[in-house]
Amino acid sequence: MSERVEKLIEKMTLEEKARQLTQVNAVVIHAEIAAEVTGAQQGIEICREDAAGIGSVLNFDTASEAIAIQDEYLNASPHAIPLIFMQDVVHGYRTIFPIPLAIGCSFDPALAEECAKMSAVEAKYGGTHVTFSPMVDLVRDARWGRVMETTGEDVFLNCEMGRAFVRGYHEGGILCCVKHFAAYGAAEAGRDYNTTDVSVRNLKEYYLPAYRACVEEGADLVMSSFNLLNGIPVNGHRELLVDTLRDEWGFDGVLISDYGAVTEMIVHGYLESEKECAETAIRNGLDMEMMSPTYIRHLPELVKEGKVSQKLVDESLRRVLEMKEKAGLFENRYGAADPQKAEEVSLSPEHRAIARRAAVRSAVLLKNEGVLPLSEDREFALAGPFAEEKYILGNWACRGRAEEAVSIKEGLESALGRNLVSATGCGKGISETCVSDIPAGLAKLSGINTVIACIGEPSDNSGEGASRADISIPPAQAALVKALKEAGHSVVAVIFGGRPQVLTEIEPYCDAILYVWQPGTEGGNAVADLLLGKEEPTARLSMSFPRAVGQCPLYYNSFNTGRPRIPDTLKNSMYVSAYRDVCNAPLYPFGYGLGYTDWHIGGLRLSSDVLEAGGSIRVSARLKNTGSRAGSALVQLYIRDRFASVVRPVKELKGFCRVFLAAGTEEDVAFTLSEEMLRFYTASGEYGSEAGKFDVWIGLDSSTDLSAEFTLVK
Ligand code: BGC
Repeated sequence: MSERVEKLIEKMTLEEKARQLTQVNAVVIHAEIAAEVTGAQQGIEICREDAAGIGSVLNFDTASEAIAIQDEYLNASPHAIPLIFMQDVVHGYRTIFPIPLAIGCSFDPALAEECAKMSAVEAKYGGTHVTFSPMVDLVRDARWGRVMETTGEDVFLNCEMGRAFVRGYHEGGILCCVKHFAAYGAAEAGRDYNTTDVSVRNLKEYYLPAYRACVEEGADLVMSSFNLLNGIPVNGHRELLVDTLRDEWGFDGVLISDYGAVTEMIVHGYLESEKECAETAIRNGLDMEMMSPTYIRHLPELVKEGKVSQKLVDESLRRVLEMKEKAGLFENRYGAADPQKAEEVSLSPEHRAIARRAAVRSAVLLKNEGVLPLSEDREFALAGPFAEEKYILGNWACRGRAEEAVSIKEGLESALGRNLVSATGCGKGISETCVSDIPAGLAKLSGINTVIACIGEPSDNSGEGASRADISIPPAQAALVKALKEAGHSVVAVIFGGRPQVLTEIEPYCDAILYVWQPGTEGGNAVADLLLGKEEPTARLSMSFPRAVGQCPLYYNSFNTGRPRIPDTLKNSMYVSAYRDVCNAPLYPFGYGLGYTDWHIGGLRLSSDVLEAGGSIRVSARLKNTGSRAGSALVQLYIRDRFASVVRPVKELKGFCRVFLAAGTEEDVAFTLSEEMLRFYTASGEYGSEAGKFDVWIGLDSSTDLSAEFTLVK
């Protein structure tokens, strides 16, 4: 502990300490009247008076605002402890990068790091000291609106990506907070804030590793989640917050609650009063309470009554003050906040270029019947409600502005140097059924061979509180796609979404499908680069695309069951684990995506079919670019432990690499497989491997059947 922190702790009163452990929204500071903690928590309010002497502010607007709040606050502060400013810089600050789920599809941690770094550079001049990111919740249910904030369904990929985000934020000069600890993404039925019930084994093996990877990479804060986890709200979950996070992982940074989540312990039906909430949270090492007033109102009393020790409060205070020291705020109260610099760096050509590259590298080509890339001299037109849409930034777009984004129409027109015909055809709402504008749209497009149909879901239909029970393409948009095809056009669907949507109905009517997620500020330019073939689509799905919403939750690393059915058939469906109406396989599997060339992968070889503990084997295959263009393939390595003390998934991703090859050339692609990569939580609870037979696959997506067998000998 530094001398400064030690002295402050000595000098401060209990009341001052409790305030220092509280964070409020900037709106509270400006508000004349008290703000409700959240809409759901009737009666629990937080007011301007509560905000006096608090430790931190979240979700303010500009650098000037942060500077003004800091000055006013420090002038009234007895100990000159600066406020620390936090906000959700999730996929960009003013320059908006593609949503994290899209970045996951790039399978490119270096790209994630670069985007995070640029976001941090803009955010720090904008007055942000800490970002509430990365969000590394593992997701398996596309109905959940917050799948857009994470990098996908695979634990290995999420760990790599989470680490990359942490490094990027630090390189860019801000602290970061990994969230939402833990298993928030396992919300039942994909409904936001819903209960999660996850076995300890599942939790340890799939849900926890990415948070841990971020902690190991140096994440400065951890945010506890809203959910009930196996019967206990997370802020009351001692095993998770103390035994796992603090004791096992050694995390000594700040643990902050999610928005109003401390008092939600009452709504959950776990604790009866605000005072009990304060006592439980502080005992579980929750250092900072976001937007609820229980520490301010009850901690001093709890200490006086001997229910909470002074030492416990001081420990939390130490962590909060040390975080402020780390952010350099005692030396410079504003951090890097500088309105002029914020203006200068935001949307700089360099940042726009990275945003464009990131959007290019995260759009997934799902289908291509030879229409793409489009030749520039061919005549084509645009249709659909997203053709001219500029709000393609996605949810959590921080200070991003729609008017600064490039729409698909603008991107294509600037690439082609000519104007394009565009027909909206129908509305973009997810419950939009009105098809009366379609005939006029079709008339406008008559005689034009290729139509780029820009469809999908608007940005505000994913993100927090934006779950969907039906994730298919809205009826009016599906009708538009069908009408375009039936009118004889060649249809290239460019689909926007914050989640995988069910494309089963429209897929047969599309000659090509490019899934662009919510691509951010440079979306239109990136889509033009891809459609016109200046760039090749290189992204692969980091989340499975269901055929029907009833398949959710759906993920590639599932179990075989005792009665498996061949995944992509409807035959043999009696008394096997199957549906009568759809096959088990997703429409598009994890790891899938096309480029503009063709590939053949074969000749899988192992350097030995015996792997000894402490040793390794080389797994290689021959990759050939059989098409007529240069291109890049994402080669993936999967394993399966055939028999174990705990049944293992049918496939587990263990590695990936990108290979660039000129047309007609071929190359060996090799991975090294070691015993550590075969570890899991065994029946005795140990993290280790078990001797026996394994399958290993190399392939271009998770449905690969190019396999070999080896034995682990111990
Ligand atoms: C969200 C968090 C976010 C926080 C602050 C909450 O509602 O769940 O992800 O960081 O608000 O904006």
